Amino acid sequence: MTVVAIDGPAGAGKSTVARTVAAELGFTYLDSGAMYRCVALAALERDASPAAIAPALTISLEDRVLLDGRDVTRAIRAPAVSEGASRAAADPVVREAMVAEQRRLLAHGDWVAEGRDIGTIVAPEAEVKVFLTANPAERARRRAAELGGDEATVLAEQTIRDERDSTRDHAPLAPAPGAVMLDTTGLSLEQTVARVVAMVVALRR
Ligand code: CDP
Repeated sequence: MTVVAIDGPAGAGKSTVARTVAAELGFTYLDSGAMYRCVALAALERDASPAAIAPALTISLEDRVLLDGRDVTRAIRAPAVSEGASRAAADPVVREAMVAEQRRLLAHGDWVAEGRDIGTIVAPEAEVKVFLTANPAERARRRAAELGGDEATVLAEQTIRDERDSTRDHAPLAPAPGAVMLDTTGLSLEQTVARVVAMVVALRR
């Protein structure tokens, strides 16, 4: 059983990198951010507080993201949900529910898990820990290209989210002890994936 933990700020390329690394290694991919996004979406739709509803939600992360059985794969990527997820994720009640579910999943099998606190809180015993970054302008450029939208607006929203994620009391975004810092600013997806895969291969030798 191997867990690869990939943490880092918004737009560093975690999702694409983690998904591709998982596919190359035959591991299962865990997108922990999608869980916080589901909480935020449900809270927005129900006009409820994230803490009140998070423990009772059923979130499934197979090919599609299912929230209480409904396909929300696209809906959770809306900018309002990104903002809501970052707020919801600052709540310890929400985090406790999500972390418990993530640990339950990671207990069996080989995983590439991606988020903000995988190497620090969810799976500190992960065999490979990577902290993926890129400079803020590059991250905003990638995110704008991916989702459409204006780079300056994306950068402004990203800055607010980075600040909140890094300064919150509970599980603030920070590299885990022993994490390999990987700055992807000048790297292609292929180069980044190759470096992470090499870390796992080295481990197995
Ligand atoms: O894709 P992006 O990096 O923009 O965000 P995400 O990974 O989908 O996560 C959305 C929000 O959930 C982040 O801004 C964090 O506040 C929160 N999050 C978290 O606190 N802990 C995690 N393990 C994953 C996400």
